[in-house]
Amino acid sequence: MIKLNINGKQYQVDVEPDTPLLWVIREQVGLTGTKYGCGVGQCGACTVLFNGAALRSCSVPVSAAQGIKIETIESLEKNGQLSKVQKAWVDNQVPQCGYCQSGLVMATTALLRTTPKPSDKQIDEAVTNICRCGTFQQVRAAVHAVSK
Ligand code: FES
Repeated sequence: MIKLNINGKQYQVDVEPDTPLLWVIREQVGLTGTKYGCGVGQCGACTVLFNGAALRSCSVPVSAAQGIKIETIESLEKNGQLSKVQKAWVDNQVPQCGYCQSGLVMATTALLRTTPKPSDKQIDEAVTNICRCGTFQQVRAAVHAVSK
């Protein structure tokens, strides 16, 4: 049994220790906001927070997540209120197809916790997710809107 702390709740899952964390989050825990894109740690669609740092959950075995505070996109909305990042995403109409956006929101959430007013360069260095619709300009605009 592997014990996990996801969004402040405790879970026990019976899976092979080398199962990617992404699949446990989606299939055992049932939180499907975290997406599968490439499966090899490149696109960032699967980004979650791992003790506050953005992490590509497709590339981490679930055994490495024991004792770690994991946050997924589902943790951001509180009492029916979107987080500041989520609101900025809506206001700046960031998503196009939308598929990769939860990963982008999580990577941005991690960045803004440590760097409240990031420059474009800091955004580009920290948020390395790939968006095939090319929403990078809107992402930067939304990050700056939050950090105003
Ligand atoms: Fe994990 Fe692409 S699905 S980085």
